[in-house]
Amino acid sequence: MTAETITAAAAGTWTLGDRTVNRLGFGALRLTGSAAFDLGTPSDRDRSIRVLRRAVELGVNHIDTAAFYFSPLRSANELINSALAPYPDDLVIVTKVGPGRDASGTWLPWATPEQLRGQVEENLRQLGRDHLDVVNLRMYGKGSPAEHFGALAELRAAGLIRHLGISAVSAGQLAEVRAIAPVVCVQNRYGVGAPPRAHELLRTCGELGIAFVPYFAIAGEGAERGTRDTDHAEVLAVARAHGATAAQVRLAWTLQRGPHVLAIPGTGNPDHLVENVAAGALRLSPEELARLESAA
Ligand SMILES: NC(=O)c1ccc[n+]([C@@H]2O[C@H](COP(=O)([O-])OP(=O)(O)OC[C@H]3O[C@@H](n4cnc5c(N)ncnc54)[C@H](OP(=O)(O)O)[C@@H]3O)[C@@H](O)[C@H]2O)c1
Repeated sequence: MTAETITAAAAGTWTLGDRTVNRLGFGALRLTGSAAFDLGTPSDRDRSIRVLRRAVELGVNHIDTAAFYFSPLRSANELINSALAPYPDDLVIVTKVGPGRDASGTWLPWATPEQLRGQVEENLRQLGRDHLDVVNLRMYGKGSPAEHFGALAELRAAGLIRHLGISAVSAGQLAEVRAIAPVVCVQNRYGVGAPPRAHELLRTCGELGIAFVPYFAIAGEGAERGTRDTDHAEVLAVARAHGATAAQVRLAWTLQRGPHVLAIPGTGNPDHLVENVAAGALRLSPEELARLESAA
């Protein structure tokens, strides 16, 4: 399953806010270094630019990023800007606010509602835009998101943001923010092996017409710094049956959880990119889906 002719359209489409995107998208976290938030090994700039351009050539029109995705010499937003501007009309760039890092990369306390405007403006400057397509409020913990989401709703009303989403959210928090402003996507950790409450939230989003956008879908549970050397026997068996890789099976499994699920696999590797896009054409049988679920 490495045919370079397979494009992101093979995964089907979803309307995110007012824009149609292919369900197979791209996550920018891994473009800046060899591991997430890497402070030691900046990526090869040309390679990252190549990955972004190739993604768009392969039909990717949904990219997830953040201003706090940077290593000492690379910024995901700057790479996106340099590689893709002037942006294709159909490209939807989703960013997230809440977390922040100082110039040395040290994590700052979660933003106050008043600080969110500055974070939105930072994304606008880095991406070279005058509005952001979608902004996710990245939650921390169980507190109420109301004040933060209210602040983002004001920025939306002011025209800086077109649509709002929320990330790392519970069902209760989602209900709370939906009463403040429309929510077009939920970005939560999800993949093979996800706990029952994660499945439940995915289903709720489907019922509400909200996109569910899993992160760490390839890394899976307990492997957030990258892929494992060996995968679960069930994942490998399904992969073998399709002549696919474990990463492709994991992505296909998430996409088959519902038409509202959008994949954003992260990679800085051009070969992995092609492989991930091709996963949008992989269809697992009901038996295989059940097998993967029980393996978890
Ligand atoms: N909202 C949040 O809190 C949050 C948290 C984390 C991530 N995110 C977003 O979600 C996106 C996805 O998360 P992620 O990138 O951390 O995890 P992921 O998509 O699960 O990818 C994890 C690792 O898998 C490797 N990989 C990718 N494709 C592969 C393939 N075909 N075969 C083998 N290995 C492969 C990548 O390394 P290589 O570079 O070596 O391919 C990467 O290190 C991120 O890029 C980011 O945009 C959001």
